Amino acid sequence: MLDKNPDAPKKSHLDFLDILLTAEDEHGVGLSTEDIRAEADTFLFEGHDTTASATSWTLYALAKYPDMQERVREEVDELLGDRTYLEWNDLSNLKYTSLFLKEVLRVYPPVPVVSRQTTKPCVIDGVTIPPGMVLQLAIMLVHRNADVWENPEEFRPERFMSETFLTRDPYCYVPFSAGPRNCIGQNFAFNEEKVVICRIVKKFKIVLDESHPVTIVPELVLRAKEGIKLKFIPRS
Ligand code: HEM
Repeated sequence: MLDKNPDAPKKSHLDFLDILLTAEDEHGVGLSTEDIRAEADTFLFEGHDTTASATSWTLYALAKYPDMQERVREEVDELLGDRTYLEWNDLSNLKYTSLFLKEVLRVYPPVPVVSRQTTKPCVIDGVTIPPGMVLQLAIMLVHRNADVWENPEEFRPERFMSETFLTRDPYCYVPFSAGPRNCIGQNFAFNEEKVVICRIVKKFKIVLDESHPVTIVPELVLRAKEGIKLKFIPRS
């Protein structure tokens, strides 16, 4: 248990660590040092490896589909003009870039599998799963399910605009999982991706190294077996 510092200056807005340090249950008991460490570890992993994977696969997809890369760049150039940095309001005006990022998260979900353990009997399709079982949900397979997605292997950002997508079952697209333990950083992550990708496409043309094979490996996060090789050519 960490001692609280009574002389610590009062802040108008508590940050993540402040919340962990000051949280108490109904008996006034705070988190142990181990609890705080576990929460900080979760945040660092969930917030870092996932976005690193998303950025890598987005850059790969931009290089693989040069026409779409050009559309993203046109949108960024038009929005930013001579400006270098994005402003808050720009984030909601990156329409095509958003569709592109959504399609990246469908085809290359950074978290390819999530697990849950049953705490009580659970009936799925008439089959009773007893308590204590670990169930794995393969997000990557859900996102490539041909019963739900038309030509699932095709990379097509526009599918996120179609009527069929808007009326879809919300659980057919779950890059950030769903339910009470879904990703709490999803808006932050999506905005972070927009900022990073916009800054890169503004400065560089991204070209795929065609000689290097890219094989998807669904580990804790989605990786490429031998990495991804890209060329970044400065725009004049
Ligand atoms: C593209 C980026 C990201 C993806 C695809 C992603 C995906 C996910 C998924 C699928 C889960 C649920 C895991 C499960 O159900 O077992 C999750 C949980 C979580 N994510 Fe993210 N995440 C991303 C970025 C972030 C960022 C930037 C943060 C923090 C700043 C973050 C914080 C968390 C935390 C704390 C949890 C655990 C929530 C809980 O257990 O209640 N994630 N994320």
